[in-house]
Amino acid sequence: MKKLSFKIGMLFFIFILFIESMLFFLLYFSIVNERVQSETDNLLARGMSHRDVLEKNFDTETIKHVALMESEAETMVVITNEKFEVLKASNEVNDDMKQLILMGNFVDYSHHGMTIESEWKREPFLATVSPIRTDNNIKGYVFMFLKTQPIRDMIHNLSMEFFIVGVLAFVISIIATIFLSKFITGPLIQMKKATEKLSKGESDVMLDTYREDELGELSRSIQKLSDDLDQLKKERTEFLSSISHELRTPLTYLKGYADVLNRPNLSVKEREEFITIIQEEASNVNTLVKDLFDLARMDQNEFIIRKEQVECCEFLQEIVLRLKPAFEEKGVSLHCFCKKSIFITIDRIRFGQVIHNFLDNALKYSRSDTHVQIKVLKENQQIRIQISDQGDGIPKSDLPRIWDRLYRVDKSRSRATGGSGLGLTIAKEIIEKHGGEVHVKSVLGKGTTFSIYMPIEGL
Ligand SMILES: Nc1ncnc2c1ncn2[C@@H]1O[C@H](COP(=O)(O)OP(=O)(O)OP(=O)(O)O)[C@@H](O)[C@H]1O
Ligand SMILES: [Mg+2]
Repeated sequence: MKKLSFKIGMLFFIFILFIESMLFFLLYFSIVNERVQSETDNLLARGMSHRDVLEKNFDTETIKHVALMESEAETMVVITNEKFEVLKASNEVNDDMKQLILMGNFVDYSHHGMTIESEWKREPFLATVSPIRTDNNIKGYVFMFLKTQPIRDMIHNLSMEFFIVGVLAFVISIIATIFLSKFITGPLIQMKKATEKLSKGESDVMLDTYREDELGELSRSIQKLSDDLDQLKKERTEFLSSISHELRTPLTYLKGYADVLNRPNLSVKEREEFITIIQEEASNVNTLVKDLFDLARMDQNEFIIRKEQVECCEFLQEIVLRLKPAFEEKGVSLHCFCKKSIFITIDRIRFGQVIHNFLDNALKYSRSDTHVQIKVLKENQQIRIQISDQGDGIPKSDLPRIWDRLYRVDKSRSRATGGSGLGLTIAKEIIEKHGGEVHVKSVLGKGTTFSIYMPIEGL
């Protein structure tokens, strides 16, 4: 397997190397060309200035003077007549120079002068020529020569310097590439290991989440996934242990009373009493199992909601009417306030179950001579159904947990009232499946208000 760090590293390296080489070559050739060009330009300019002097006075004295001036310089001057015969030279004229001078026989040199040898790599000299002209007649020529060896030496030194800098740049590029590829792939490898761990079911994943870029975002997502998984695991364990507890209690009752029933010499009254208890407990277990089954189906998205448009007020009044006797029996008043012609799109049976559960709770956790009311309000694009009671209220610390499965504020009392702590979980799920939301406000000892927000929608 080719590693990602290797691939990224190679890509970086080739890219950096390519750019570096391009820059090096461009720089090198431009320096070399500029240097050679400036040498030839200087040579030509020097030749022309001698020529200008000689044009004014083309006599032996001036010629001698010019040659003398040049004899101490790095350059060399050769002054010829119009037939290219050497009149004077600052240094000795060798054969190569003579050859170059004689080539002038076949060329018509311009008055500005020109370079006649620029091959600094091969030839021993650079050379220029400037014709001396008076009254439009060519009187002679000024040839200038410059040795190319110093230029070659200078360029050799330059090449050596470029080579050293090149090697240094190469090494630095390798180090930078290794560092960069590690910097990018390091977190990726860490995340790969983390996801492998997650897939094996281990959720103790710790990633560096401090980076402010996309990789940081990715590690934060993976870290969150791992934390969520951890939480889910905990919830599952908690849920399983509460379920077994929930089932164990009624089953203990069932077994206990069934054993008692087996005893001889029980009175008929006692027998009937025990049978009623057994029936109640069995029905509790039945409800619990049915509720759990509903929740499981909701989790699997198999819980079908058949929506229809319903006149809200009528729908609620119907439920209120059904529950009124139970409320009256406990001495709690129940009222529904709503305007006619507010329509809401719901599954009648499921939503009825929701309202039923809220009212059931309101009744269970209220004392006599208190009021429970349902209010329907139409706000913006929502319908708010508010169910308030003046009951015991819920402690602030318990409020966020009341929607959890099997959660009850007061375990012992709720059991006495037959609750299993699934009602609100199911209600919330059903409301959310309708596209709605539910919120709760509660003051301990004063009462509780549940607000259901439902979207207004067509069929
Ligand atoms: N109106 C209310 N006033 C006070 N406490 C409430 C009210 N509604 C719910 N609670 C608290 O929230 C807990 C969870 O309610 P939920 O309806 O889920 O369970 P339950 O009523 O105990 O059992 P179930 O509804 O499954 O029979 C209750 O046990 C109770 O402590
Ligand atoms: Mg309930």
